Amino acid sequence: MTEIVKLGAPLGAEVRGIDPRLPLSPADAATIHAAFLEHLVLRFRDAPLTARQFRDFAANFGTLQPHIAKRYSHPDVNEIVFMTNRDGKGEFDEVGAKRGLGWHSDLAYEQAPAKATLLHGVALPSRGGNTAFANMYMAYERMPATLKSRLDGRYARFRYGGRHKVNLGAISKAAQERPDVVHPVIRTHPETGRKSVYANPYHTYAITGMGLAESDALLAETYEWCARPEFQWEQVWRPGDTIIWENRSAWHTVRLDYPLDEERTFFRTTVLGERTLDAATVERALAA
Ligand SMILES: [Fe+2]
Repeated sequence: MTEIVKLGAPLGAEVRGIDPRLPLSPADAATIHAAFLEHLVLRFRDAPLTARQFRDFAANFGTLQPHIAKRYSHPDVNEIVFMTNRDGKGEFDEVGAKRGLGWHSDLAYEQAPAKATLLHGVALPSRGGNTAFANMYMAYERMPATLKSRLDGRYARFRYGGRHKVNLGAISKAAQERPDVVHPVIRTHPETGRKSVYANPYHTYAITGMGLAESDALLAETYEWCARPEFQWEQVWRPGDTIIWENRSAWHTVRLDYPLDEERTFFRTTVLGERTLDAATVERALAA
């Protein structure tokens, strides 16, 4: 019997009665999809997965994407990247440890960003290193009307590393020189029709049609609002956990508060989402 158990937070639910190592029935897939849209983060417990099992489970949610940071690709399953704080020799790797540090949503530097991301714990630290989430529907819905009115209808440029060149060491020079993409600052979800804050501190470069200083100030005010604890929930990892989250209506970040001499490694894959804007709108916004 499949059961969706809310975790008593602004987002997040646990799915019980599903074994991610087994094929999903159409009825269970529909239940999980509805829960994913409602709760934004879903957790499946007590099921250690091989790389192939993880890939096969993730494929239930759509088309899986290879990642821009090629050096972290899984050698046999190219839809999977490792999120790890270890280098090839098993030593601490600061660039790896800091990937995903800072609020963001995945692949926002693509014109068709990731719809969902899945993570499965492979090696977990003894404490800390949670993955934190923030509900961007709620951030938008509860936002003061004055701030809302300054963001509604705005577009922004996005690129890997954003305005502050965050963690560029994780990707190649060629990847760093990719052209900017454009997304609405306030995004309407293609399935639920609800609005959420889509700009994020890791990938947003600037709001278009506005000076950089003005954009920086408005984005800083927006981020401060969106990062309020009342919108958040944290996944405390246990061996055998797999999670899937919404990138269209939630932010996430790693917590770098664990003992750094301990390994922290995950399988990760992303599910392709929709283009946010058509090419003509992107062109116009880039020229503004
Ligand atoms: Fe991420």
